[in-house]
Amino acid sequence: MSSVRHLVTSRLLHLSKPCVHTAKQSSLMRLFSTSSRCRTVMPAWVIDKYGTNDVLRFTRNASFPVINYPNEVIVKVFAAGLNPLDVSMRGGYGAATLSMKRDPLNLKQSGSEFPLILGRDVSGVIMECGLDVKYFRERDEVWAAIPPWRQGSLAEFVVLSANEVSHKPKSLSHTEAAAIPYVATTAWSALVNTGGLSKDNCANKRVLILGGSGGVGTFAIQMLKAWGAHVTVTCSQNAERFVSDLGADHVVDYTAGPVEEPLSALERFDLILDNVGGDTERWALTLLKPWCGAKYITLVTPFLQNTDQLGIADGMMQTAATVGSKVLKHLVKGVHYRWGFFAPSGPALDEIRVMVDAGHIRPVVEEIFSFSQVPQAFEKVEKGHARGKTVIQIGKGPE
Ligand SMILES: NC(=O)c1ccc[n+]([C@@H]2O[C@H](COP(=O)([O-])OP(=O)(O)OC[C@H]3O[C@@H](n4cnc5c(N)ncnc54)[C@H](OP(=O)(O)O)[C@@H]3O)[C@@H](O)[C@H]2O)c1
Repeated sequence: MSSVRHLVTSRLLHLSKPCVHTAKQSSLMRLFSTSSRCRTVMPAWVIDKYGTNDVLRFTRNASFPVINYPNEVIVKVFAAGLNPLDVSMRGGYGAATLSMKRDPLNLKQSGSEFPLILGRDVSGVIMECGLDVKYFRERDEVWAAIPPWRQGSLAEFVVLSANEVSHKPKSLSHTEAAAIPYVATTAWSALVNTGGLSKDNCANKRVLILGGSGGVGTFAIQMLKAWGAHVTVTCSQNAERFVSDLGADHVVDYTAGPVEEPLSALERFDLILDNVGGDTERWALTLLKPWCGAKYITLVTPFLQNTDQLGIADGMMQTAATVGSKVLKHLVKGVHYRWGFFAPSGPALDEIRVMVDAGHIRPVVEEIFSFSQVPQAFEKVEKGHARGKTVIQIGKGPE
């Protein structure tokens, strides 16, 4: 049985196990949870409209999250991670599709998503469990990547589905743990679900990561190396040492000239993960081994932009036409063209926790900010040229 299946099975088995707490745990939980159960508001950074950094507003009166479904949990946030997606969402990126996901019957007025809380990574402690949640208990230390249609982690508490949550690696502090979930589940979705890679089939596979020095790239390098792949990375010159230290076998500096020239002199690849986009797909697919099942997977897709600009129906049709024609165009040349997307997944984080606690993957925290410095953290992410992740300490978790 693969370890993913084993972890999923053990999650299911927990559904039938009763939750038993010792007297000591129960008294601690009571002490710990009274504050959440009586409260209706909490501190958070919110936006009331889309825009630049000026729209970020700190409030002590954000609505306290409530459990709406029996499989949901409330997590007290000790640390949050910030991603380029948060900067884009602050400006309104994806608003059409995300509004439809939040309100599928379109019953609410436009703008009902406000006040909106951003922040896609969380590490913290479970404060409250829905009635059907058996795999987690109050006070469990957890980490998760929060889907963009949910309220985010730049707040004292956040509500999530138990399927999206996983126990935090014991070897990491909350600040370190918050650097991993969103980029890790994105890389997992792209490389494992879309790319078909696993720890059992990576040996001797040649993988190229375009844009290896940021959040997704630094995680992907480490996971692929732990699985035995040969990893080539593009990044700017001043990140070469950094990605080599993470395990990259071959590094190509994209600032030294057209990067496709040195790359085309190398042996062909089995898989390319594109974190850069733009004109990369004009040349990148020629670097794949033809007629061998090789795949190009890009994380930079026009899907949300299309629905923002054209509306849901036309945007989806445009998206289907674009991706369909590209898939066919490359299929006749013997290579696979795919789009990769973030997918929240507690079971994937369970697998990643094992790799982290075994020392195969380490968090790459570029800079840590306090809760009062959220606008500065956004500025940092917006500048680009990331070397890992930007993390915000929120609660007073054990470090
Ligand atoms: N589809 C999805 O669901 C999904 C999910 C997550 C992320 N994404 C997208 O995936 C991309 C990567 O995300 P991330 O979190 O890793 O971003 P990030 O942390 O900002 O990292 C991007 C990295 O790319 C490097 N870079 C920029 N231009 C480059 C080029 N031409 N060649 C090689 N490297 C280049 C940057 O550093 P230097 O410029 O200093 O080299 C930076 O380190 C972003 O565009 C993000 O929006 C999509």
